[in-house]
Amino acid sequence: MDYRRERLAVLLLFLTASLLATTTGVVAHNDNAPHRNYLIIVRKPYEYDQHVYKNVSSWHASLLSSVCDMAKEELAADPGALPRLIYSYRNVVNGFAARLSTDEVHRMSKMDWFVRAIPEKTYTLMTTHTPRVLGLTGPTIFNPGVWNRSNMGEGMIIGVLDGGISPGHPSFDGTGMPPPPAKWKGRCDFNGSACNNKLIGARSFYESAKWKWKGIDDPVLPIDESVHGTHVSSTAAGAFVPGANAMGSGIGTAAGMAPRAHLALYQVCFEDKGCDRDDILAAIDDAVDEGIDVLSMSLGDDSAGDFAADPIALGGFSSIMRGVFVCTAAGNNGPDPATVANEAPWLLTVAAATNDRRFVANVLLGDGAEISGESHYQPREYVSVQRPLVKDPGADGTCSNKSLLTADNVRGKIVLCHTGGDATNLEKGVMLRDAGADAFIIISPDFTGTVIQPKAHALPATQVEFLTAEKIEAYINSTQNPTAQLAFKGTEYGNRMSPVVAPFSSRGPSKQNQGIIKPDITGPGVNIIGGVPRPAGLAQPPNELAKKFDIMSGTSMAAPHISGIAALMKKAHPTWSPAAIKSAMMTTTDTRDHRRMPILDQDGKPANMFSLGAGFINPAKAMDPGLVYNLSAEDYIPYLCGLGYSNHEVNSIIHPAPPISCARLPVVQEKDLNYPSIAVILDQEPYVVKVNRAVTNVGRGKAVYVANVEAPASLSVTVMPDRLRFKKVNEVQAFTVTIGSSTGGPMEDGVVEGHLKWVSLKHVVRSPILVSSKKFFQGNSTATEPPQGR
Ligand SMILES: *[C@@H]1O[C@H](CO)[C@@H](O)[C@H](O)[C@H]1NC(C)=O
Ligand SMILES: *[C@@H]1O[C@H](CO)[C@@H](O)[C@H](O)[C@H]1NC(C)=O
Ligand SMILES: *[C@@H]1O[C@H](CO)[C@@H](O)[C@H](O)[C@H]1NC(C)=O
Ligand SMILES: *[C@@H]1O[C@H](CO)[C@@H](O)[C@H](O)[C@H]1NC(C)=O
Ligand SMILES: *[C@@H]1O[C@H](CO)[C@@H](O)[C@H](O)[C@H]1NC(C)=O
Ligand SMILES: *[C@@H]1O[C@H](CO)[C@@H](O)[C@H](O)[C@H]1NC(C)=O
Ligand SMILES: *[C@@H]1O[C@H](CO)[C@@H](O)[C@H](O)[C@H]1NC(C)=O
Repeated sequence: MDYRRERLAVLLLFLTASLLATTTGVVAHNDNAPHRNYLIIVRKPYEYDQHVYKNVSSWHASLLSSVCDMAKEELAADPGALPRLIYSYRNVVNGFAARLSTDEVHRMSKMDWFVRAIPEKTYTLMTTHTPRVLGLTGPTIFNPGVWNRSNMGEGMIIGVLDGGISPGHPSFDGTGMPPPPAKWKGRCDFNGSACNNKLIGARSFYESAKWKWKGIDDPVLPIDESVHGTHVSSTAAGAFVPGANAMGSGIGTAAGMAPRAHLALYQVCFEDKGCDRDDILAAIDDAVDEGIDVLSMSLGDDSAGDFAADPIALGGFSSIMRGVFVCTAAGNNGPDPATVANEAPWLLTVAAATNDRRFVANVLLGDGAEISGESHYQPREYVSVQRPLVKDPGADGTCSNKSLLTADNVRGKIVLCHTGGDATNLEKGVMLRDAGADAFIIISPDFTGTVIQPKAHALPATQVEFLTAEKIEAYINSTQNPTAQLAFKGTEYGNRMSPVVAPFSSRGPSKQNQGIIKPDITGPGVNIIGGVPRPAGLAQPPNELAKKFDIMSGTSMAAPHISGIAALMKKAHPTWSPAAIKSAMMTTTDTRDHRRMPILDQDGKPANMFSLGAGFINPAKAMDPGLVYNLSAEDYIPYLCGLGYSNHEVNSIIHPAPPISCARLPVVQEKDLNYPSIAVILDQEPYVVKVNRAVTNVGRGKAVYVANVEAPASLSVTVMPDRLRFKKVNEVQAFTVTIGSSTGGPMEDGVVEGHLKWVSLKHVVRSPILVSSKKFFQGNSTATEPPQGR
């Protein structure tokens, strides 16, 4: 599978890069050891003499120079040693990034201001029809419209941390956009007029990356060499582009979710290299000061864990303290369990699913059978007639051995190829075209189930599900002269078996907080059409706009959909906290597909909450949730103490809030954080757990809500009180949910699911409930295999 290969490639590059860093690191002037990048966490409160040090940065420099000999003569001999202080952070963390030798780190560790030195780390990106699917544009059976004349995200600023961006792309056209609001303090580092009232900010953060990776030399302009940053930004807030299409497929008007919102791009990732942790921190440090409303991050690391060392968790906390909504991708390491990234409860963690669009390219076998397949490129000139059908002559059937793809073997034929082997499917397309093949049929890998991610290939092609491939092979076996033809039928909408959770979408449970279901929510992330500098796979795109759009898949694509929707919600409800917006999204999701059946996982079984979170986003309903589970930034503090973080770690996460001592705070267990979903573990007597929650009335004044529980017979769930009467807006009412095994004894091994609904005349406020018979992980970091089960 192509994205598996890409992941491996990134990993390999990372390995090579670290080797390079070791061998070519700057040689120190005072100890011949190489310097490496470290994030240094400093004790708080920091009390520096404000007469001596004007600002945090000069104070950090003084701390650094107290352990590094930075004498002038030596610097002159080794100018490379000068920029030892890479970043001095103000908001995201109490500390700085610096280049240090291990000796210096050791010396530093003896200082009274020192807390922790964290070695460098690399994060990765998680690699025009969707507005209608999400019901933004107008009434459909399921949703009334959300977009209207007064709300397309006007005045909102979405900050995107990603690779670079392609300025001048039609999705970033500023025509008709008002200037950014007065609070905007950011800047655009492009020269000329590449920025405008749509793309209002563009900066690149590479001060840490440039020490690790070759080819990142200042000044780096945040121009997109890859396609990721442009695609993601256009999904969140791209302008309307009539006629947008990908290789001629899916023609329509492209638009981001918040087409009138402003975009600020912060480049922290570099093509084929990755994203440096300390650059990510620096970008968020500045972004929150510059005035963004929503922060969109389609990057992460599923092994990041520890919130006190993860830039997304650290920067995310500083963001929500400023009221900035933070939306992150869940990761592309599914369908294995416990692969979810970006798990902190103050982040929205987004899983990916299919949408209702298909690019139909069926296979008609010589015996009359029709097999459904998809092709992103639908060649108009293709002559569809029965032609000889052959399997790859190679032993593994993957069409990756070039010496076997001879004209004798494939010319004029349709070739059946499995995914995998030593070549990507795109490379196989090129080899087959060169050998004169007529077309090829790609068999998806087994684990992707019913979800097909077609690409545009060098020759006519279609991609089919793994299971249907058996039919084709049986037919080939059954006859002397097997034949087939491809039938390109164009873009089809309204696939009723959608959404389906994407196979690659990372699954829970959360490794860091077992009392919280992660991912939180699902959005469209399969075969998404978005802006790109140039499309992949086809030398000659069929029309001009096809050179500007392409299809991509990933939780990277799902997160910016929800970032754009968050901007619409902030515009509609400017006083709501990030937690309130998140609650509104999560309690109003769809859990059924267009057939009104439970949303399926890629394997054809109903998706569980570790795949889907609370469900698939329903923006129209999210705008008016009735009740919200609210949290202030301070509310997370006793929760962090309850997770077992030390005072230093908690203080480092909540910086720049004043330092706290966990011993002086009430204990909040993970199950009791006022989160819109509920997860409990019934692993000990008396097999009953009480969960505390409170809801805030954000409807129109007076309302009565009645509790309604859906749970399997193995559970007993009661709610006290089971009726909530609200007299006014913003009134808060608390309640307790008691969850136990209905037998009173231990539960059957595994996980069971239910829902708590607060129902009024106008609203249904639904929270997922997940109950496990045992802890998913023992202790706080050692992973054990989580129990399987639905
Ligand atoms: C901090 O103060 C120093 C001088 O003490 C100055 O050179 C530097 O620009 C200041 N940095 C910031 C971020 O204000
Ligand atoms: C537009 O949408 C907002 C909420 O998104 C709503 O408050 C407003 O009443 C709507 N305006 C019209 C004209 O429908
Ligand atoms: C603008 O940037 C480009 C590089 O992207 C550079 O070649 C050019 O000289 C710059 N122009 C000006 C006026 O700075
Ligand atoms: C490719 O096919 C050739 C010819 O049959 C064979 O000699 C070679 O070992 C094959 N290469 C691989 C990598 O399988
Ligand atoms: C087709 O024939 C091959 C070789 O005889 C065999 O290995 C394979 O299992 C057959 N496939 C099907 C689907 O019948
Ligand atoms: C939620 O809590 C925050 C912080 O205490 C508060 O500002 C906000 O008004 C509350 N209500 C909503 C609906 O966000
Ligand atoms: C669990 O957390 C405690 C308290 O923070 C810490 O001392 C301990 O090392 C952690 N255990 C593991 C296995 O990480």
